[in-house]
Amino acid sequence: MTILVLGGAGYIGSHTVFELIDRGEDVVIIDNLETGHIEAVHPKARFYQGDIRDRAFLDSVFDKEKIDAVIHFAANSLVGESMTNPLKYYDNNLCGTKVLLESMVAHGMDKIVFSSTAATYGEPERIPILESDKTEPTNTYGETKLSMEKMFKWTGLAHGLRYVSLRYFNACGAHKSGEIGEAHTTETHLIPLVLQVPNKQRESVGIYGDDYDTKDGTCIRDYIHVTDLAAAHILAVKYLVEGNESNIFNLGNGIGFTVKEIIEAARKVTGDPIKTVVTPRRAGDPAQLIASSEKARTILGWKPEHTDIEEIIASAWKWHEKHPNGFAK
Ligand code: UFG
Repeated sequence: MTILVLGGAGYIGSHTVFELIDRGEDVVIIDNLETGHIEAVHPKARFYQGDIRDRAFLDSVFDKEKIDAVIHFAANSLVGESMTNPLKYYDNNLCGTKVLLESMVAHGMDKIVFSSTAATYGEPERIPILESDKTEPTNTYGETKLSMEKMFKWTGLAHGLRYVSLRYFNACGAHKSGEIGEAHTTETHLIPLVLQVPNKQRESVGIYGDDYDTKDGTCIRDYIHVTDLAAAHILAVKYLVEGNESNIFNLGNGIGFTVKEIIEAARKVTGDPIKTVVTPRRAGDPAQLIASSEKARTILGWKPEHTDIEEIIASAWKWHEKHPNGFAK
């Protein structure tokens, strides 16, 4: 099969490309390299640099390549930035996806797997969160992802396109080789920031609030290894290729860890005391987000393999220790 991966030079996209190629699939990548990295592009993939908002560019790739299915990671994904620059998110995430769907429909492409997020739920009504729970995003990023899901739904009904939307919880960890991993120019995520302390890039890490109604007062999240996310995308492509209907799945381990527990696990992995400073809460952070991934397990046959938090952090550490500046030389 030939799979087109949009955003295949980014964090989750590049790990999915590596997994696809390991399994013998033929891969075409489109990435504008705005947040992706050329160094993360697998050497066996055919790479086209360009933007999904550029219809002529997309058409030229669809004309040239014989694509069986599309996996769509190409989006902006910083919650904080989405609140200060919402129109950037509407432009890239929503307008970009609109152009993509126009090009796909024009080329008779009818299968797409898409990166969605736990941020579509907003403040959860219960834990663990089910796919059928209410979706009321509390930030622009989540809102654009929810709108993208709806764009797929209505386009699918009109044009016979089928989609799988994968709502990730907290993506983390790195490829077993230690050669690709998380590398954001503006880093906001907990695990990479924690690991900057033993890497001597920061003195301490902030704990954003210790007065939440949780066991130790810090926020609880469901951390899911990027390789397990990659495996879910491949199962979702298979699901669509077998002719199944459009669907939405949560992807998480179903286990919650507090911020303090993550820092403690990182201390064990790195042997560093990792200094912390408690700071005020970060706006918009729900106290607790834990997925029910029963649906993905039952319907897709997905089973996360990396459930041990120290193992997950060790894989991230292997990458960050060797590449303290990400892909930058
Ligand atoms: N945190 C800290 N200190 C830091 C960074 C984060 O205490 O220096 C805390 C946050 O407050 C949060 C937890 O660590 O409680 C995890 O924060 P991240 O920024 O790593 O991840 P989020 O849970 O905010 O975000 C993740 C995804 C988003 C997605 C969101 C859904 O990265 O893409 O879940 O709510 F939108």
